[in-house]
Order: sequence, then structure tokens, then C-alpha cells
Amino acid sequence: MATANVSSAVRPYSEVPGPYPLPLIGNSWRFAPIIGTYKISDLDKVMHELHVNYGKMAKVGGLIGHPDLLFVFDGDEIRNIFKKEETMPHRPSMPSLRHYKGDLRGEFFGNTAGLIGVHGPKWEAFRQEVQHILLQPQTAKKYIPPLNDIASEFMDRIEQMRDENEQLPANFLHELYKWALESVGRVSLDTRLGCLSPQGSEEAQQIIEAINTFFWAVPELELRMPLWRLYPTKAYRSFVKALDQFTEICMKNISKTMDKAEFDESQGLVKNDSDISIVERIVRKTGNRKLAAVLALDLFLVGVDTTSVAASSTIYQLAKNPDKQQRLFDELKQIFPKTDAEINQNVLEQMPYLRACVKETLRMRPVVIANGRSLQSDAVINGYHVPKGTHVIFPHLTVSNDPAYFPEPKRFMPERWLKQQPNEQAAGCPHAGQKIHPFVSLPFGFGRRMCVGRRFAEIELHTLLAKIFRKYKVSYTSGEFVYRVNSTYIPQSPLNFKLTMREE
Ligand code: HEM
Repeated sequence: MATANVSSAVRPYSEVPGPYPLPLIGNSWRFAPIIGTYKISDLDKVMHELHVNYGKMAKVGGLIGHPDLLFVFDGDEIRNIFKKEETMPHRPSMPSLRHYKGDLRGEFFGNTAGLIGVHGPKWEAFRQEVQHILLQPQTAKKYIPPLNDIASEFMDRIEQMRDENEQLPANFLHELYKWALESVGRVSLDTRLGCLSPQGSEEAQQIIEAINTFFWAVPELELRMPLWRLYPTKAYRSFVKALDQFTEICMKNISKTMDKAEFDESQGLVKNDSDISIVERIVRKTGNRKLAAVLALDLFLVGVDTTSVAASSTIYQLAKNPDKQQRLFDELKQIFPKTDAEINQNVLEQMPYLRACVKETLRMRPVVIANGRSLQSDAVINGYHVPKGTHVIFPHLTVSNDPAYFPEPKRFMPERWLKQQPNEQAAGCPHAGQKIHPFVSLPFGFGRRMCVGRRFAEIELHTLLAKIFRKYKVSYTSGEFVYRVNSTYIPQSPLNFKLTMREE
């Protein structure tokens, strides 16, 4: 991307290839029910089709009530756009959430609206207050012991869930949600929500349902014609109800945490570092309860679906690739002589193959299939002039499955990501000896707006997966996973993995 200048070499925006907009209704009809060819749940296929039909870049213009979408499928162009990112990158997502936080519940959120769905100076001020705490590797490492405990409890649940054929229930994803929710609750609030107790927790269930409704409603509100701006549509009503309910439950827990933290401090109680929650750290640093509470809400909103779906996809890939699973088992067996893997900082640093398995899964099935930026000034992209306000989309799923960047993209090859490889292991890896383009697999985004939960997500994933694959041999016989876009990229197939206990 270069700043636009008047140069004859630069082609006009009108010439950017893409599906032809109809008079009056532009391309909006493509997302409409029944007549539309672009189903929201099939956005993965839509992106692929755009790439096949139009090449490096495709414009979907003429969307009523929505800026043009410009899909960029080229690694170098993606790099250029990210590298020149404005100081306050504007992610073109969630006008619906902006409406909720800014207008509908503006009294509550005020100037402290958080990170998700917030842009400009408000976002920058908020991010500056919290990112130092969230992104510091040292902070995340403090949570390894409690996250290890939660994963161990989840392993007990897995043992209870296995049926007489050693199979997990088809709705195992729902169980993974509970593990992820319990983990986010512990890290952000210092609270055990009780999601993993045998009798379950009604409150946890309500949070999970609210998050699911939220993720279903966002694309409904933002990709279809925005009728919710005229009257409260069904999706809009569900969206507001889910967020209200979610905010209420979270605020209750957040207040409890903060009151306890203040009480402990007044009693001069010295806490273990891992017992100081994110909320408490933020309040100590800023003295601002509201800021900490709003952050915790955001962490809950995006920290549950993402991690649990990533876990399910990694388990699936390893189940389908027994040779890779064996290699992972060899790595784990070296570190953990017994079948119960206890995780600490030291062992987490000794599992390069496990890390590579997660990276390769997120390449093949990124949980967030596309990310984007709203241009804050005119730009030149791929030789075309692109006006300010255009929503540039980085379609990770398509790009990281493009054979131009990943030879044999459908093969699960964690070896692609290993730095040093003994020759015999590199043999057979389609990527052996090749450098991976740094901008063609960005599952956590990039730059000043990249995921602030990444370090926590990785610890959660590595901890749970190490335990599962050290203890069990995992297989899957219900065919190929089918995915559907529901904001995140979620497997629709039954997750009835077969878990056979290892004897050694
Ligand atoms: C495998 C798990 C996860 C994936 C794949 C993921 C992916 C992403 C992506 C792609 C973005 C957008 C980045 C950008 O625009 O450049 C993002 C943002 C964000 N993520 Fe994650 N995420 C994961 C887990 C988590 C967790 C566990 C949390 C919280 C505990 C979290 C909190 C956030 C927040 C708050 C943002 C917004 C940052 C901002 O706008 O400043 N994420 N994530």
C-alpha cells in the first residue's frame, strides 16, 4: 500500500475486479435470504470463489448501508497494508457492537468502551492502559498453575464422559466451551465459575448461550441489509438481550472480585502472584474499576469460542493423522514419564512439536477466517487507487490454504513450522527448505490491534492438548469435519472422538 498520488500507473478504483453490482441494490442482494448466492454461513466458500474468479484482489461494492469490501489475497500486499497501518488501526467489524456500547448502553460504557467494536482515540487510550499487562509474557506465565488445574479437572470430566466404546459425546464442543470459559474466568476475574462441576453451573450456561447468540447475530446484523437500524429485527432483539444478560452476569462477578480484592488489601493480605487476576492488576495500575470491568467483558466475549474451537480442530487433525500423533506422543513421553502431564513453565518450553501442531491447525482452519482494516486515508493497493473508508479484508482462510504459499495445503504437516529439522523428518514435508511468507498465516492478526489474549490462549491450548495426547490415543471415524461460519469458524460435525487410554 502506498499513499495515493496522481500517477498514470495507478489504475482507478472503478477498475478493481469483482462481482458486478446491480442498479439500486448493488451487491446487497447477494447476502439476502433465498435470492442471495452469498450465504453468511458459507463465507469461506464465497471468499474462495472470489479468489478463483478475480485473482489477487476482489471488490464487493454497492452494499447498502455498508462500505465496500476489498478482499486481498496476496501476501506481499497484506504485508504492505499492515506495515503502513495507521497509528489507530480501525478494524471494520461490529457496527452493531459499537451501537450497543456507544448508543444503546452508552450511559454504562461512556468513554471506557473497551477494545472490541471500538475505534480511534477511545480504543487507543483503552488499549494503552491494558496491553502492557495482557501482552507481557511474564503476566501470562503466572497463570500456568491455575490453568493446569483447570485442564486437569477437565481431564477428569473427559474420563467421566467417555462411553462404553471409549467415545466422547457428539456435543463435546459444548464441553470445551465450559473449559475455555472456566479458564477465562479464572484469568480475568480470579473467579472459579464452576463450569466443570458435575452438576454444572446455571450462570456459566447462560454466559455460553449469550456468547453463542452474540456470534450468531453479528454477521446477521452486519452483512445483511441493516434493517435493524430502522426497526428492532429478530437478530437485533436477540443480540441486545444476549449482551444485556451477559453484561449483568459478568458485572456481578466482576464486582465480587473487586470487593474481595479491596477487602484483602485492607487486611494486608499478601497474595500469590498467580492469584492476582487481570482485573485486579488493572485496578491497581489505573485505579479505574470501570475500565477493568469493561476489559473483562471483552475477554469473556472473545476468549471462549476461539480457544475451544481451536482445541477441537487440533484434536481432529491429530486424530486423522496418526503418524503426526505418534510423533507428538514421542515428544510428550520424553517430557512426562507418567500418563498424567503436569504443566509448568519449564515443560511448556520443551514442546516444539505440539506448538507446531497448533500452528498448522490454525493455518488450515483459522478460527477467525478473515480480519480487516478500514482505510483511514486513500491508498494504492495492488496498483489500484483505493479510497478512504474502504474495508480491506484479509481472508486468512483462503490465503493460508493457497498452494502458492503452502505447497500441498490440505496436508496436515506440523513439520512446516519447525525451525531445525533432522533430515529424515524434513523429507516428505512439502515445505522443507522453504521459508514461510510471514503474512500468509496470521490467525491472531497483526500489529497494534493484534489479539491481546494470544498468550493466554496458547497456554490454555498447549496445556490441555499435552494432557489429552499424553494420556490417550485419539481417533475419529465420523468422516471429515464440516465447518460453518458463525462469526468464528466452527465444526458442525459430531465431536465423538474415541479416546483409548495409553498404557505407557
Ligand atoms: C485460538 C484462540 C484465539 C484466536 C485465533 C484469536 C484471534 C484474534 C484475532 C484474529 C483478532 C483480531 C486481531 C487484529 O485485528 O489484528 C483478535 C482480537 C482480540 N482477541 Fe483474540 N483470539 C483468540 C483467543 C483470545 C482469548 C483467549 C482472548 C481473551 C482472553 C482474546 C481476546 C482478544 C481481544 C480483546 C481482541 C481485540 C484486540 C483489539 O481490538 O485491540 N482472544 N483475536
